Amino acid sequence: MKRIINPSRRRFFAQTGAGLLAYTALPSWLQAMEGMGEMPKMTPNKASANFHPDVEIDLTCQPSTVSILPGQPTRVQQYIAKLVKGPANTLTELPGSYLGPVMRFQKGQKIRINLHNQLDEVSITHWHGLHVPALMDGHPLYSIGKGETFVYEFEMLNRAGMNIYHPHPHNTTASQVYQGLAGAILVNDEEERRLELPDGEYEIPIVIQDRRFDSENQLVYAGHMRDRMMGFYGDRILVNGHPDFNLDVASRAYRFRILNGSTARIYKLAWDDNSPITVIGTDGGLLETPVNKPYVMLAPGERLDVWADFSGRNIGSQLAMRSRSFSGVLPKMAERMMGGGMGGMHGKALPVGSDYPIFSVKVTRQVSDSPALPGKLSTYHHYQISDTANPNKPVPIAISEGPMAMLLNGRPYAYNDILPSERIPLNTVQLMEIFHAHGGSGGHGGADTAKQSGQGMQHGGDGNAEGSHKMGGMGMMRGMNHGGDNNVEGGDHQMGRMGMMGGMGGGMGMMMSMAHPIHMHGQSFQIISRTIENGESEDYATVKDGFIEGGLKDTVLVMPGERVKVIKPFQDFKGLFMYHCHNLEHEDMGMMRDFLIE
Ligand code: C2O
Ligand code: CU
Ligand code: CU
Repeated sequence: MKRIINPSRRRFFAQTGAGLLAYTALPSWLQAMEGMGEMPKMTPNKASANFHPDVEIDLTCQPSTVSILPGQPTRVQQYIAKLVKGPANTLTELPGSYLGPVMRFQKGQKIRINLHNQLDEVSITHWHGLHVPALMDGHPLYSIGKGETFVYEFEMLNRAGMNIYHPHPHNTTASQVYQGLAGAILVNDEEERRLELPDGEYEIPIVIQDRRFDSENQLVYAGHMRDRMMGFYGDRILVNGHPDFNLDVASRAYRFRILNGSTARIYKLAWDDNSPITVIGTDGGLLETPVNKPYVMLAPGERLDVWADFSGRNIGSQLAMRSRSFSGVLPKMAERMMGGGMGGMHGKALPVGSDYPIFSVKVTRQVSDSPALPGKLSTYHHYQISDTANPNKPVPIAISEGPMAMLLNGRPYAYNDILPSERIPLNTVQLMEIFHAHGGSGGHGGADTAKQSGQGMQHGGDGNAEGSHKMGGMGMMRGMNHGGDNNVEGGDHQMGRMGMMGGMGGGMGMMMSMAHPIHMHGQSFQIISRTIENGESEDYATVKDGFIEGGLKDTVLVMPGERVKVIKPFQDFKGLFMYHCHNLEHEDMGMMRDFLIE
């Protein structure tokens, strides 16, 4: 696999650590790590004698080979899991897939997972969507090296829903996920059980990913700076690790548990016969009532619970789920380049926003009865602004986009660089606002919020200049390394120019503006409002009916010019909890920060 060589972590943290001097009174354990020059080496967690698990799993991440395309097998990285203790249905393999097995847990279970790293690089596993203590959350600080073990112990506090396990090491999350390290977690609870939703063979995980292979069937990954700026896009779609995924179904209702496991690709999911998609749940579990959508936007890290009813269909009838055309998630220039076939030495990417199939379904069995779609699905507390500790000063999450630096709140990632606005009192409910710092009306956003909140963004401002300068330098170096890739195609040249122009500042906002799936660790949030600055564009019209209102979320797609307000509880656990762009190339570029809950 070809990929970018990361600049040394030492240099990165040596540079960013200096920013800490501006802030005082960080907890001593964080302060103690400062000046160590790089991500400190923490002691891996060990099993505790007084934790009595209901379920115990040995989970190994290791190099492996899997047959994906006809011909030569593909070298991948893979999760292998073994059930040590617990119900037999805890682990379900996806046959022939590089993906890890589906893990099924029950709310209230005490779970121990022994993560063994057999990769030739550091790694750590994060339970995306689960509400667990900071130490158990898979923070990059706890990355372990080859041959080491990290023991996770937590109680399942989540309501029923679909979650994800995937690696979260600093700077290499995207490449490890791309090489195959990911899996689905299904949580069940009493409220869900009462609904008697389709289960067993009628409940189907659908993990959608895009990949690119070379002529020897080996994975090809980000070869240019552009692949990191825009995200890396494959030239084909895999479902559950398989190309051309087909499903034989009976003429009855199914439950499709859909997860976008791509590093960067955003989908606009729709049935090809134009029947609506019946959505019964999102990231954080079941909606209150089912909703019918003409299509649903699904960004990396997001999940969708779909009721798919094939009753009344004849044997032999077919249906396909497609990604329909849309625009506006990438900068115009990139969209054009991709339309013209953006790609490197190993073929062209499937253009983002083009119309292509994801998987197809064929009715092969007639059955006489089918469960009915429940009218009422679940109940959850709806947060109001009045529930929040900060109704007048939302916690800012400012997306800043520059040619060499995709950042949040103007600063690149550093585990020990916590802005005042990123310090959240334990057991509070917070109003939060995600917006493009340079998008639309040009930087207003940041300033407004800074005035409102009187915190955070001032530092953000400072950090911006300083931070992006440094990142810029680093970016350049990365870019140069790539030069060696012999890339002589027009696209890069353009990107280079675009970079230069951006570097000069001024007016680059619109040029670079793109959509970002913003993810927060810890508890789910609720979306309060989405507003689009400068009115709705033609581009926005191609996606706007695909957002699910209501429900519990942990990842939200923020379109260019969009301002999204959410309410999120920060209960139970102190410590560092990350928030980041789930475009994993962006995450690895530093579009990631921590909240310190204290
Ligand atoms: Cu799915 Cu912090 O990630
Ligand atoms: Cu997460
Ligand atoms: Cu992003």
